[in-house]
Amino acid sequence: MKKIISLILTLALCVSLSACGSTKKSESAAVSAADGENIKQETQNSEESTTEPQNAGKVLVVYFSVTGNTKKIAENIADGLGAKLSEIVPKEPYTSADLDYNDDNSRSTLEMNDTSARPEISGTIDDFEQYDTVFIGYPIWWGQAPRIMDTFVESYDFTGKTVIPFCTSASSRIGSSADTLEELAGSGTWKKGQRFKGNESVDKVTEWAEQFN
Ligand SMILES: Cc1cc2nc3c(=O)[nH]c(=O)nc-3n(C[C@H](O)[C@H](O)[C@H](O)COP(=O)(O)O)c2cc1C
Repeated sequence: MKKIISLILTLALCVSLSACGSTKKSESAAVSAADGENIKQETQNSEESTTEPQNAGKVLVVYFSVTGNTKKIAENIADGLGAKLSEIVPKEPYTSADLDYNDDNSRSTLEMNDTSARPEISGTIDDFEQYDTVFIGYPIWWGQAPRIMDTFVESYDFTGKTVIPFCTSASSRIGSSADTLEELAGSGTWKKGQRFKGNESVDKVTEWAEQFN
């Protein structure tokens, strides 16, 4: 009888020890999962801080875009250089009828036929003075920059700034569009502009932009 009782006690002890072991294991699994989470968090944090742009606050990418092509290029430049991005928003948005270049009386045709047209911009860039380098992007309309770009360059002082024009188009080159903007701006050191196609690769855009970094 004593032997039977001692056998039962030994078995009970083994069962409780193994239960204890498995609890420890799941505790340690929980700990390492939490550690993993923390490490992931830290890695993400350190990735965030190492990719923090060197020149944040000094480079501005300003763009006007109605159908999104120039916007995409502007975003690629800003991402690549860690620059601030700012959109030129028309006070009166362009409708698709406004953009109809087959219509002699559409808003865009009338504006482009009138060199003195200055469509109004909604809002202003308050901290414009702090930027040393300004990328200026626009679509080509009838071989030129849309008139709202004339409004933009005449509204700001580019003295002491490096200005880099870029544009998107269906097929036209940048042509004289950037020279016209430079003339209207009347200040700043304007670099040779660059035309991109709407679906230009991110690599090509960032590689071009980095030469100005
Ligand atoms: C009114 C108007 C005129 C245009 N004129 C030209 C042009 O002369 N040459 C050209 O290659 N593309 C021309 N395009 C096409 C745009 O330049 C092209 O689609 C551009 O990428 C649009 O940019 P966004 O999407 O940023 O607005 C014209 C588009 C519009 C709406």
